[in-house]
Amino acid sequence: MGLFTAGCGSSSTTADGGNGADKTYVVGTDASYAPFESMNGEKIEGFDMDVLSAAADAGGFKVQFQNTPWDGIFLTLKNNDRDIVASAVTITDERKKELDFSDPYFEATQMIVSKKGAELKTLAELKDKKIAVQNGTTGDEVVTKMLGKGSPNIKRFENMPLALLELKNGGVDAAVGDNGVVLEYVKNNGAGEFVTSVDSSFEKEHYGFVVKKGNTELQKKINDGLKKIKENGKLDEINKKYGFS
Ligand code: ARG
Repeated sequence: MGLFTAGCGSSSTTADGGNGADKTYVVGTDASYAPFESMNGEKIEGFDMDVLSAAADAGGFKVQFQNTPWDGIFLTLKNNDRDIVASAVTITDERKKELDFSDPYFEATQMIVSKKGAELKTLAELKDKKIAVQNGTTGDEVVTKMLGKGSPNIKRFENMPLALLELKNGGVDAAVGDNGVVLEYVKNNGAGEFVTSVDSSFEKEHYGFVVKKGNTELQKKINDGLKKIKENGKLDEINKKYGFS
């Protein structure tokens, strides 16, 4: 289940230093993160799938996506269970110590979402409030930095839909997560019910594809593919498809 080959139409490409064999890489993704990655029946689809598949086509390699829980997703690279993680992963200095990233392919920022009538618009306003985040994300990091690691007010969930459901059900006062995912949720779950806001302290984040530390060969293949789709307009086209540009 959840195992699909993308870029099947690319058999005419030759990669791998000209030995003719297109290698298929296994890609881990937490497919509960629309519009970046989500399950459509058995199929994993989303912005990240489109971008990486296009980069693979352009770079002469193949990918198959496998649904993988966010918790421990980077360990799957260390264990060689996955070759690539494509999961709306923010490139951070901390993560770069343990992992290698492709060049950036998307810009994002954190976003606060709260209930209409009980709006919380700044990070400062979140003090002493209950906040839901996805465990181990950059959203978790900004909230933890503000409230302190041991704060009982931070509720950490294994995926973003659970964090957002907690807000909808009134179990927390706000949720913090990537803007694209928060906006998609609000759009699909009663836009009139929620208020979104970006704190002025929230930094720009950049998504990158992740490989095992030291796998510079694969990192280079991905970057070559990304460069091509940035140049030939394919990345723009995918951005348009998702309403990102
Ligand atoms: N961009 C955030 C981070 O890297 C959240 C990514 C979560 N991705 C996912 N598919 N659940 O920490």
